[in-house]
Amino acid sequence: MAKKLKATAKSPANIAFIKYWGKKNEKLRIPSNNSLSMCIDKANTITTVEFKKNQKKDYIKIDGKTAQGRERKRVVKHLQRIRKKANLSLKAKVISKNSFPKATGLASSASGMAALTLAASTAVGLNLSEKDLSKLARLASGSACRSIPGGFVEWQKGTNQENSFAVQLYPSEYWKIADVAVIVSKKMKKTSSTSGHRLAKTSPFYKIRLKNLPKNITAIKKAIKNKNFSLFGNILEKEALNFHAICLTSNPPLLYWSPTSLLIMKKIQNWRREGKTESYFTLDAGTTIHAITRQKDEQKLAERLKNIKDVKKVVINHPSNGARIIKNHLF
Ligand code: DP6
Repeated sequence: MAKKLKATAKSPANIAFIKYWGKKNEKLRIPSNNSLSMCIDKANTITTVEFKKNQKKDYIKIDGKTAQGRERKRVVKHLQRIRKKANLSLKAKVISKNSFPKATGLASSASGMAALTLAASTAVGLNLSEKDLSKLARLASGSACRSIPGGFVEWQKGTNQENSFAVQLYPSEYWKIADVAVIVSKKMKKTSSTSGHRLAKTSPFYKIRLKNLPKNITAIKKAIKNKNFSLFGNILEKEALNFHAICLTSNPPLLYWSPTSLLIMKKIQNWRREGKTESYFTLDAGTTIHAITRQKDEQKLAERLKNIKDVKKVVINHPSNGARIIKNHLF
């Protein structure tokens, strides 16, 4: 019997503690700086890929909708890379499901592209190492390379296709912290992060950011190593603001926050000052606030956050494993 060219993978999204912003090589997605993240368990993508005979073109469905335009192009391009590696010409059927609607800003291109990379490369029989999967996922979306290893991860920027990939610093069970994600808007963000990366270098402060990052990375890694939560949180929050300072001063400027995002940032700082719950915020290129706290404080924090007007949803995430193959196919 012919071998079934089919596989299903599940991949977490990740939240960056040190942000990837700006690329040295756009085509290969070689970043300008190392970045650090944690894979999160409640935001993930499950993707089934099957390469089939008699299929005229790639068929891609994401969250029940046939992918079109840019979204379709990006997936097809990645399938093409994988076909080339496997020396295969069959077209594929791809069905993908996010644990949260894309518009919430929780399900990201990171989980989507990491799941696609693992499912498609497994389906065609490429038996890639974690490192090679991370390199391949990177080509589809930079942050996707950090969803392959799982737990606490560093993306070593490297200089070329061979040496730019993510490695695990600590497994998911290493540190009992939580990412309490606060969704404040269901609208899709207007500027994609891919075009945001391009604008980074137009900020007069970008060079200074890059100069200072290595010492911040060393400091945050040390805080994680020592499980010094307060120090870790302070660096994390400053880094989020530093990243947004680049966005705000780009040309044209990028303002990702909504009034509610800003209100929550202030509240998080006030609660800390008042000795209530100790948490620190970070935000990616969108309105969602990620309040990082100790797991013992997560319920109390989530309750507080839920009570803020205009908060749509609060999701408590724990550190998660990386991308993995699962048995249950979506079709
Ligand atoms: C702000 O990985 O989405 O979330 O490589 O163009 O797909 P592409 O960009 P992407 O950028 C993520 C940027 C960020 C910070 C981060 O996750 O490190």
